[in-house]
Amino acid sequence: MSDEKTLAETLAQRGVSRRSFLKFCATMATLMAMPPAMAAEMAEKLAKVRRQSVIWLSFQECTGCTESITRSHAPTLESLIFDAISLDYHHTLMAPSGTAAEAARETAMKDNYGKYLVVVDGSIPMGNPGYGAHGGESFVDHLQQTAKGAAAIISVGTCAAYGGIPKANPNPTGAVAVSDIIKDKPIINVPGCPPIPVVMTGVIAHVLTLGTIPDLDEFGRPKVFFGDTIHDRCYRRPFYDQGKFAKSFDDEGARNGWCLYELGCKGPTTYNACATAKWNGGVSFPIESGHGCLGCSEPDFWDKGSFYKPLSSGEWGGGKILAAGAVAGAAIGIGAALLARKRQDSITGGK
Ligand code: SF4
Ligand code: SF4
Ligand code: F3S
Repeated sequence: MSDEKTLAETLAQRGVSRRSFLKFCATMATLMAMPPAMAAEMAEKLAKVRRQSVIWLSFQECTGCTESITRSHAPTLESLIFDAISLDYHHTLMAPSGTAAEAARETAMKDNYGKYLVVVDGSIPMGNPGYGAHGGESFVDHLQQTAKGAAAIISVGTCAAYGGIPKANPNPTGAVAVSDIIKDKPIINVPGCPPIPVVMTGVIAHVLTLGTIPDLDEFGRPKVFFGDTIHDRCYRRPFYDQGKFAKSFDDEGARNGWCLYELGCKGPTTYNACATAKWNGGVSFPIESGHGCLGCSEPDFWDKGSFYKPLSSGEWGGGKILAAGAVAGAAIGIGAALLARKRQDSITGGK
């Protein structure tokens, strides 16, 4: 490890109160659906963790994923970046540049060989090595070289996890996901465009606390955060079940907070924690702000069809099942519930 202090010592040194730390652990435990007693156990384990070297690589991305984590409310930006983890290399956030930056990466790799975590945002262009390079190395070489000594890789954002927007049709750069290139390391996908900050932090907390890779679903996402659809936990669900749908963004239904299904909401087929973890420190999430879910944590969400046509139009693949029950309201609800259950069973083996 790059530092011998425990996380608790580092946090105390940085002025983070034990109360804030316990609050963070309680939030994490809730998000991970752990029993309340586990929060204290998690806090105890996490407090003893020694700083972990993290190398963050950015490829074809928009910086939205970094923006998301730097607004993480718990732990704060400072504690996350400088205390909770040892972010040894990050293009956007690190002070050094050029040769000094690359030297920092090489030192971190050498000192922590086999132990460091690699976080990646952005997809990798395979169409031509000249499409992107760091320190004179093509993106793909840079990734392969950095991944060699990694304990695990966390692909944050739909670009790194599945190719994302750069891979959208006609995929001019030949963009691929990290998992298309790296085959010999554990990879945790934390999709979303961008991902929820507290979920990114939670995955790191899970790895640091338990020393294991969380249980993953068929798309490589941690089930603790991606086990339910947005629809499963949506506060507008009662309206959906009653067949009360907004027909436009400014009609009476919209003003009354009715379901956004007919305005194109992809919540019924989208697995993410937005409805529970929410955004901006738990303030809101897209549906609460009046817009349907775009399905941004699902592979190829950009190419699946209009964001403003309902799932029953069939463009998003769930149409057949949804359309079968799509007489109205409750009937659609049953169809979506079946679709969600079918997908859940394929993930859990029906358990
Ligand atoms: Fe930007 Fe979205 Fe890609 Fe993150 S996943 S880099 S927010 S386009
Ligand atoms: Fe919520 Fe969308 Fe489901 Fe309606 S369709 S209940 S707005 S997730
Ligand atoms: Fe993305 Fe849908 Fe959440 S669009 S941010 S998964 S509500």
